[in-house]
Amino acid sequence: MKFANAQATVYNDTVVRQFAIMTVVWGVVGMLVGVIIAAQLTWPELNLGIPWLSYGRLRPLHTNAVIFAFGGCGLFASAYYVVQRTCHVRLFADKLASFTFWGWQLVILAAAISLPLGYTSGKEYAELEWPIDILITLVWVSFAIVFFGTVGTRKVRHIYVANWFFGAFIIAVALLHLVNSAAMPVGWMKSYSAYAGVQDAMVQWWYGHNAVGFFLTAGFLGMMYYFIPKQAERPVYSYRLSIVHFWALIFTYMWAGPHHLHYTALPDWTQSLGMVFSLILLAPSWDGMINGVMTLSGAWHKLRDDPVLRFLIVSLSFYGMSTFEGPMMSIKTVNALSHYTDWTVGHVHSGALGWVGLVTMGTMYYLIPRLFGQKKMYSVKAIEAHFWIATIGIVIYIAAMWIAGVMQGLMWRSVNADGTLTYTFVESVKATFPFYVLRLVGGLLYLSGMLIMLWNTLKTATHGRAVDVQIPAPAAAHA
Ligand code: HEM
Ligand code: HEM
Repeated sequence: MKFANAQATVYNDTVVRQFAIMTVVWGVVGMLVGVIIAAQLTWPELNLGIPWLSYGRLRPLHTNAVIFAFGGCGLFASAYYVVQRTCHVRLFADKLASFTFWGWQLVILAAAISLPLGYTSGKEYAELEWPIDILITLVWVSFAIVFFGTVGTRKVRHIYVANWFFGAFIIAVALLHLVNSAAMPVGWMKSYSAYAGVQDAMVQWWYGHNAVGFFLTAGFLGMMYYFIPKQAERPVYSYRLSIVHFWALIFTYMWAGPHHLHYTALPDWTQSLGMVFSLILLAPSWDGMINGVMTLSGAWHKLRDDPVLRFLIVSLSFYGMSTFEGPMMSIKTVNALSHYTDWTVGHVHSGALGWVGLVTMGTMYYLIPRLFGQKKMYSVKAIEAHFWIATIGIVIYIAAMWIAGVMQGLMWRSVNADGTLTYTFVESVKATFPFYVLRLVGGLLYLSGMLIMLWNTLKTATHGRAVDVQIPAPAAAHA
């Protein structure tokens, strides 16, 4: 009983610490696989004739590792940290919170084994087979109980905007996963989708686009709304704008999926509707970016010597860039050029490396020292080095893909006066080679930054000790 009371006075930071450490570890693993597949695209001999290491199997391993292992652990860590701090209460159901950690690691392990073995449902970003899907569902429902249970038992009346974004992310991902993964099992690791033909494609890209909107965006906006004001020591620029941002973004994202299926068997009006909603999406996206960046009003000078703040703010610039580019690519005539080319891969990575990657790294640099009773990371110089190496890496990666993509699109549509194609496909592959080498260089730089972060994290953890912070007394909570 005494033990239970003692626990009630401190936040549950154990689970936050576990997820934070694994964010860094899975970041290194996922990006390493990214570098390997980038090398395989450049020199296909690197497939080594070994089926388990072939590009087709390692590519989904990369996407699953970076999105769900690196991004996912970062989201669990920050949601659990933020919801406790903003509700002034310990996490609801400690055991269930611990189950979400171990269950999620088990999902990642199952992915890391089953994908190289060739088990896949064939649905992008939802490749895992049905037994793993059931485990994901159990973990996610537990996550929802812990998160909303904490909000429900809060000691402050107001629900801070970051929690709205985390909450929407949790609910939407549950819905997306349940609907898109509906399947008929025909064996232990084999199933067929519940949908067929064009309906299957439609459901898949409703899922796929909202995986971007809710997994890769809404949850990270939750991070942004808590950690930028904290690190800048300034209130959010406009709280009213954050509410408009929330409802507009949540409403609009759900309709934009068909832009992934332009010029397919999907009814034409559905494609146009997807395009229109994608264009509208520019407004709420930039609303969030502006609100985040303007939070620095009166504190711009802090960018000069605070590398953590720089990670957070530069992530927003990439967010703004990719959410400008996305609506442009959704215009059917632009998509006619960009689809199937490396322009898409450039767009993906300006969002993934620039926005998701940098905001997660900035957040972890804020969290890790605090979780180990330290004022700052072991080496601030190393954070500085990481920032520059990563930023240069991103710019090389995405610039190479943009040039390669537009070049491929133009080469494929180029025709001679007699109507024959000017270039054979293999000529476009050959012309792409130097850009694949450049992408590999960019990827290697980004991975090196992550390795520096791993070293800095281990040093910070071993120099400090795990501490659970005291929950403020009710009087202080209202201050
Ligand atoms: C060292 C860093 C990274 C490297 C070198 C890298 C490399 C690659 C490569 C070579 C591909 C396959 C492209 C193709 O099919 O032509 C890919 C796909 C992808 N990567 Fe990465 N990646 C990195 C980091 C990340 C991160 C951090 C994320 C997400 C947070 C991410 C998300 C994705 C996604 C979503 C795809 C699929 C894109 C599509 O289907 O169009 N990557 N990556
Ligand atoms: C306003 C916001 C955005 C819009 C309207 C948008 C639109 C688009 C469009 C039109 C495509 C190309 C579809 C195709 O030709 O197949 C695309 C692909 C993609 N975008 Fe975005 N995008 C947005 C923001 C983002 C952000 C912030 C990220 C990452 C964090 C992202 C990740 C992706 C991914 C992963 C794909 C590739 C999907 C695939 O084919 O596997 N997008 N997006």
